[in-house]
Amino acid sequence: MNIKDNISLDNIPKHVAIIMDGNGRWAKKVGALRAFGHKNGVNTVRTTVEACVELGIKNLTLYAFSTENWNRPKLEINALMQLLVSSLEKEIDELDKQGVFINTIGEMDKLPGNCSKALSRAKAQTKNNTQLTLTLALSYSGRWDLTNAIQSIAEKVSEGALSPQEIDQEIIQEHLSTAHLHEPELLIRTSGEMRISNFLLWEIAYSEIYVTETLWPDFSKEEFFKAIIDYQNRERRFGKTSEQINP
Ligand code: IPE
Ligand code: IPE
Ligand code: MG
Repeated sequence: MNIKDNISLDNIPKHVAIIMDGNGRWAKKVGALRAFGHKNGVNTVRTTVEACVELGIKNLTLYAFSTENWNRPKLEINALMQLLVSSLEKEIDELDKQGVFINTIGEMDKLPGNCSKALSRAKAQTKNNTQLTLTLALSYSGRWDLTNAIQSIAEKVSEGALSPQEIDQEIIQEHLSTAHLHEPELLIRTSGEMRISNFLLWEIAYSEIYVTETLWPDFSKEEFFKAIIDYQNRERRFGKTSEQINP
């Protein structure tokens, strides 16, 4: 029996977010340079997108480059940025065909010109697609996003467009770069690290967290399906008791 057959189609998460980690360790394992790990990580992006399309998951958000990743060696940063451009060029038509809309969160203006241009082209080409929104978090961090949101809210307050009493969770949510996205029901991290690394801090308040030891380049479609099954077997209580959830 195919592992996919164990997935209940009436409980598919609307939004899955992934911290794609372990490319460097994967490269080390095969005796290659870190950039080779990143290159192989692109294959996993492709199969994960396919898996989402197959299951009807509407939103996939991938942590591709954090604010803190700017502190890596320049050579690695350049390799990652180049890989982003070449992968977009190579994959965009297929993604478009699958109905994928490419979206980004993060500081686009910090990316090299050819990267932001390739991303703008990809967004424009796929803007009418509705099968899956693939959000790439690039030069993104949760604290960066919250800081921006607080700044824009403060500006509105100082202009008199908003009173401090009106600031509620909905207003905060609306000012985040993920305003248009449903909160992720499931957050996956590969490579076994038990941390959030400044990813979607506000949005994951009630996300189910799934950590696998598998390194990102080895993370297969079957493993993705396994994560979905694991999620479907959780009892999401949102502070209530189990008895309240299952009377
Ligand atoms: C994830 O893999 C990719 C990025 C952070 C860009 P890493 O490059 O962090 O791989 P490890 O954690 O060193 O194995
Ligand atoms: C998190 O991975 C960022 C991305 C996956 C893009 P890192 O490898 O940068 O995280 P830390 O530094 O181990 O926490
Ligand atoms: Mg890492």
